Amino acid sequence: MGLAHCHNFQDFRALAKRRLPAPIFNYIDGAADDEVTYRRNTEAFDNCDLVPRVLAGASEADLSVTVMGQRLDMPIYCSPTALQRLFHHRGERAVAAAAAKYRTMFGVSSLGTVSLEEVAEQHDAPQVFQFYFHKDRSLNKAMLERAKAAGIPVLMLTVDSIVGGNRERDLRTGFSIPFRLTLGGMASFAMKPLWGINYVIHEKFRLPQIEAHTKRKGSATSSIAEYFNEMLDPALNWKDAEEMCKLWDGHFCLKGIMSVEDAKKAVDIGCTGIIISNHGGRQLDGSRSPFDHLAEIVDAVGDKVDVILDSGIQRGTHVLKALSLGAKAVSGGRFYLYALAAAGQPGVERALGLMRAEIERDMKLMGCTSVPQLSAENLRFRV
Ligand code: LAC
Repeated sequence: MGLAHCHNFQDFRALAKRRLPAPIFNYIDGAADDEVTYRRNTEAFDNCDLVPRVLAGASEADLSVTVMGQRLDMPIYCSPTALQRLFHHRGERAVAAAAAKYRTMFGVSSLGTVSLEEVAEQHDAPQVFQFYFHKDRSLNKAMLERAKAAGIPVLMLTVDSIVGGNRERDLRTGFSIPFRLTLGGMASFAMKPLWGINYVIHEKFRLPQIEAHTKRKGSATSSIAEYFNEMLDPALNWKDAEEMCKLWDGHFCLKGIMSVEDAKKAVDIGCTGIIISNHGGRQLDGSRSPFDHLAEIVDAVGDKVDVILDSGIQRGTHVLKALSLGAKAVSGGRFYLYALAAAGQPGVERALGLMRAEIERDMKLMGCTSVPQLSAENLRFRV
């Protein structure tokens, strides 16, 4: 099975699993504790049904949305994620190029493997920089200044990761950065020689957003959880977020908001967006799914801030359901990461193209010619 046979999320996932060494696949695929929240994030969409309108003359559908001042040609964007060059040697370069082709937003993470400046220079698609708030204030200051100088239009502060989630798959595989090759790990890498060759012959793995400030001892490796626990500031609070928002002085959003109270506070400190997210189920297992909680948050702050839904999106109909409840856009990680791992830039382009086609087809089947026509009227929740 190759890329041409990938027709949906599960197909890309299966191909990624074939191409990646097991520790790396499981890093993307895994989540916290029993992965209950991870599963619920997608299952939540099945709790309601779409009610289509017909004979609406919907021969064309305009998928564009404007979110945090950015006009996107489609209502889903590539959420910023860490370590992308581990999944495919072109990493963020491939994702940024694919997002630019479809004219949607993409993100670069503080733990990204290509510099935020490089992708900003090469692509004019809207970019967000995902900020991890470190204990080292000089690193925080430097990252913010770099993002500003590079002309990044949106700063995104991640607020759900002040400590590392308990990802037991990573504990079992020994996943770490850079790799610590355990005997078991060695076997799984040896089973994917193509990945290994690509990893070795291409430019060395780097973390250009943070490396100047985080020189680690010798060949020290750490798991993502250890990195979070050692380097990030667990005391991060509303005052810090407000100061950052003022300092940034542009579109600023918080990623990982899950309660109405916090959504209101985000409005108060001057955010122009909030991302309703539980980090793809990778942090607090047992937390509510963003889709289950979306209506409450939109009711409270939907007219004051752009509400974006993240986590669990696998289908165009999931996107339509979120937009119908008032999300301004949605974002996802795994939907493009499996595709990146499966086939690099052509993979991500195919994932975005299929998603775009699904959304367009489904909007026409709903009798809608533009995103604002979607509303809660189109949905019924099962009792
Ligand atoms: C993760 C962090 C790095 O979920 O975003 O692994």
